[in-house]
Amino acid sequence: LWRLADFAEETIKQVRERIGTDRVICGLSGGVDSAVVAALLARAIGKQLSCILVDNGLLRKDEERAIVDEFTNHFKADLHVVKAEDQFLEQLAGVVDPQEKRRRIGKTFIDCFKREADKIEDAKYLAQGTLYPDVIESGAAADGPADTIKLHHNVGGLPAELGFELVEPLRDLFKDEVRKLGLQLDLPEEIVWRHPFPGPGLAVRCLGEVTREKLDVLREADAIVVGEIKAAGLYRATSQAFAVLLPVQSVGVMGDSRTYDNTVAVRCVNTDDFMTADWSHLPHDLLARISTRIINEVKGVNRVVYDISSKPPATIEWE
Ligand code: XMP
Repeated sequence: LWRLADFAEETIKQVRERIGTDRVICGLSGGVDSAVVAALLARAIGKQLSCILVDNGLLRKDEERAIVDEFTNHFKADLHVVKAEDQFLEQLAGVVDPQEKRRRIGKTFIDCFKREADKIEDAKYLAQGTLYPDVIESGAAADGPADTIKLHHNVGGLPAELGFELVEPLRDLFKDEVRKLGLQLDLPEEIVWRHPFPGPGLAVRCLGEVTREKLDVLREADAIVVGEIKAAGLYRATSQAFAVLLPVQSVGVMGDSRTYDNTVAVRCVNTDDFMTADWSHLPHDLLARISTRIINEVKGVNRVVYDISSKPPATIEWE
């Protein structure tokens, strides 16, 4: 940890020297990388930092609130929240193809981000949470299969044409180091230990067409999955755990009546590098609690299944 303490101090000093009196924009995604970059910059340059959070309507339950609380109350950063749920849902209406979803989300994200960034005067730099593995991957794997299976989109992927100089203070770090740094910078554990979340968010966990109603169902189911895994003390022992809403209805029985409702799949994996992954062998009583709670508490769901596929050949996300 001593090395990271030095790293934080040294990086803060370097950032201050480089930025001088200029303004830096930082996109917040809800993820740990962008939060750590913002926290580091808030320490380094305080009021010269402006953060942008694009609320695409595809975030997990309470995700936006946690970020807004942290960056307005704790770091007192200049935070711009772009309310863009309607715009994203309009773009996604009628779209079922996963890659097309990603393309539209990526494009809408850039539009929203750019429009907000243009309002921030004197911004010269853009801070990004690029990590060491991203640096290697973009150099080495440009033609590798991992890149083409899913078109990745995340906040770290803003295009150069936005016209900012990049600040990437985490370029030499691995994920576990970023987490430690986050704790050192007083970010709450809730943010620091949050499982990774894809840029296109719940849109790729809501199979088929994405609608507000389906997203609401998915958010509730997902919160139960994560909540129960945390309550069982297994959140940090798993790498990613979430709910997927399937476009499949099936017959059930509730009281004396027949139901014909939706299916939720629970996906939980263990992995070191996200390139290969095992499905998590969760205790059966935990799975039972998750299933009972989702079926009882989430309206419109009458069946819960557990995904027992490893990667490869399955991927972690269903789309
Ligand atoms: P897959 O589904 O390819 O996922 O096994 C591997 C890891 O990448 C995440 N993922 C994404 N992250 N944009 C992202 O920023 C994306 O489009 C995307 N698709 C998958 C996934 O959550 C897992 O951690």
